[in-house]
Amino acid sequence: MRQQTLLLALAIAHAVYGATSNALCNIGDTYVAGNWYCQEVKKISYTGINQSGSYKATTAMDENTGVCSRKDVSYSGPGAPLDGEVSIHLRGPLKLSQFAAYTMGGGSSASRKQRRHGHGHGHDHGQLHSRHAAKRAAGDLVTAVINGQTVTWAKGYDSTATPVAGQPAANVNTVEAGTQTSPAASGSTPATPSTSIGDGKWGRVAYYSVNSKDSAAGLAFLNNQGSSYASGTWSSTFGNSASYASEDGTTAAKSSTPFGGSLATSANEVFIMTDKVCNGDDCGFYRPNSVAHHGFNGSSKAFLFEFQMPDNPSGDSSGLPNAPAIWMLNANIPRVSQYGTDSATKTSCSCWDSGCGEFDIFEVLSAGDKRCKSTLHRQHNAQGGDSNYFKRPTDAPVKVAVVMTGGNFIIATLKDDVTFDETFESSTMQSMLNAYDNPNHQSVFAIVR
Ligand SMILES: *[C@@H]1O[C@H](CO)[C@@H](O)[C@H](O)[C@H]1NC(C)=O
Ligand SMILES: *[C@@H]1O[C@H](CO)[C@@H](O)[C@H](O)[C@H]1NC(C)=O
Repeated sequence: MRQQTLLLALAIAHAVYGATSNALCNIGDTYVAGNWYCQEVKKISYTGINQSGSYKATTAMDENTGVCSRKDVSYSGPGAPLDGEVSIHLRGPLKLSQFAAYTMGGGSSASRKQRRHGHGHGHDHGQLHSRHAAKRAAGDLVTAVINGQTVTWAKGYDSTATPVAGQPAANVNTVEAGTQTSPAASGSTPATPSTSIGDGKWGRVAYYSVNSKDSAAGLAFLNNQGSSYASGTWSSTFGNSASYASEDGTTAAKSSTPFGGSLATSANEVFIMTDKVCNGDDCGFYRPNSVAHHGFNGSSKAFLFEFQMPDNPSGDSSGLPNAPAIWMLNANIPRVSQYGTDSATKTSCSCWDSGCGEFDIFEVLSAGDKRCKSTLHRQHNAQGGDSNYFKRPTDAPVKVAVVMTGGNFIIATLKDDVTFDETFESSTMQSMLNAYDNPNHQSVFAIVR
């Protein structure tokens, strides 16, 4: 009863802001294969992303010893370190109908056209002698402070994953109702900051549509299938580098190739960079002879997606079949090595393990599941994963926006009639994000440290 009263108060208080992650979890939750699932929502907002920290950037990769050298890079400011260049990653089964990238005040490069070049299928033998790219590490630790309580849980990928001993993972869901701050009850400032995206004009810097894929602009589709026969490189030490993706995403192409729009299974991944090739040291260190492009840069950026994640249990040789995903990485990760390991430390050769940034946007975590979760990975204590989830769009495409600005990262389901225009006033973008304004369909997850 006490809980219900509180929920009602929260529902009223958060009519503008959305309910807190905890409030929605108090309605009900399930624990499946190492992951909590509370309520299905249309929008998840991460707020208060404004902690300084540092990570270890790769400075060299020794092909003889397999050792990766590093240096400390410190970061600060809203959204950091994902305010720098990021790459957008897709795992099948997935159909991409449209994709657009925006920056505040951007748009000038959208006129650059991606040209169709020859395909590399005929000469691409890279996979024959490649080391199989490892899937992403299972059981990542996720720690967050939610309403003053430190919560740690393992982000498991299989049924053996369990909450970390000694850390009450169930806290996500069993927070005493009375410990929640209710702005309605206290009359103080809202417990959850506004997820306003500010003023200004958003300009499109990259656009892809499966219906006009040959004229996609401002971007390139890459994957991790590099070989000297197609593009990128391969070595027995570090495996395949990044490469241009073939039309179906399964192999490497010789040059930038229009994406066919479909990834058949979870064994297939591609990632999206800008069409700008790294020049000199303007990307910092990247794996020599790799395909290295600039990522999407800036502390205010936005991405629109139209995609479907069909249920396809067949023909999938990946470690986690039928588990599609859309996620974002610090662009240094795929430029160095998305899955390669440092032989000395047994951690990733890239800056991934040291917390240089991953934002899981729509991710299926167990085979065949119909729920997609999101998680923000950065440094210990400055990251978190919302326990609410999006419905996996198995049968029809869905439109989704990811807006990152002012230390807020918002993932929102859009109305079907939204078009991926060349420019958006911020007020238009804001109303798009508020399309589903029932507070029980919006979760706000505050990152606090
Ligand atoms: C990325 O944007 C920041 C400003 O947000 C700027 O300082 C930096 O130089 C940019 N990086 C590149 C490679 O353009
Ligand atoms: C980010 O944190 C810094 C330092 O604490 C503060 O000065 C700044 O106002 C914060 N910015 C935002 C958008 O919260």
